[in-house]
Amino acid sequence: MRTFQEFRMKILKAEFTRSCVSPEHFPNGDVPEIALVGRSNVGKSSLINSLLQRKALAKVSRTPGKTRVVNVFSVATDDAMLPHLLMVDLPGYGYAKVAKSVRAQWGPMIESYLTQPARRRTVVLLVESRVPVSQDRHTMIWLRSIGYLPVVVATKVDKLKPSARIATLRRLEAELGLHEDESFTVYSSMTGEGRDQLWGLLKERSRT
Ligand code: GTP
Ligand code: MG
Repeated sequence: MRTFQEFRMKILKAEFTRSCVSPEHFPNGDVPEIALVGRSNVGKSSLINSLLQRKALAKVSRTPGKTRVVNVFSVATDDAMLPHLLMVDLPGYGYAKVAKSVRAQWGPMIESYLTQPARRRTVVLLVESRVPVSQDRHTMIWLRSIGYLPVVVATKVDKLKPSARIATLRRLEAELGLHEDESFTVYSSMTGEGRDQLWGLLKERSRT
């Protein structure tokens, strides 16, 4: 596991830019993008709010399947290396209760977004700490196959019992089949744990 610098990112501006339902709405790739990928309900929208320190910029819901389009947020920071970036909130996959006709559009939409060229796009794969599923591993393999080295974030770590935490996270890393050069970190949008570490990683990735 590689070590990385923590970084306290100051957010100067964060605003919703647009919802994209087809490729012509996607960002043109000029500004660094951070895209959040993961199953429905894993905490993607919550993590955006937490990273950007905004209460309800991205819509959060207890009901899986809340985010149904590609939502783009424009962010300005005080960091000279990363003064402007886009946060991209993607629909979650794998939730059976969303109408089939709706779900059928998500896969191609996520795929067409991620396969559209961008100068600097960092993909963050969110997996729930307590409940990794084989689908997460498949997503990891797919992301690698299309050329990404995702930053993997174990979400909702506040739900882990301290005594079981290390063992649970080790199991998660093993189940995902993470490689040595792949970044893995933990997050709780509830407590803010992991925010500085994740910004450190994102900053390092977005620069290159
Ligand atoms: P979709 O838009 O359906 O794909 O879901 P999402 O991945 O955007 O998840 P969302 O952020 O809407 O969160 C889903 C549920 O998990 C909500 O009830 C959140 O309050 C809860 N949640 C998200 N992050 C955390 C966390 O770090 N800790 C705890 N305890 N709950 C969380
Ligand atoms: Mg969402």
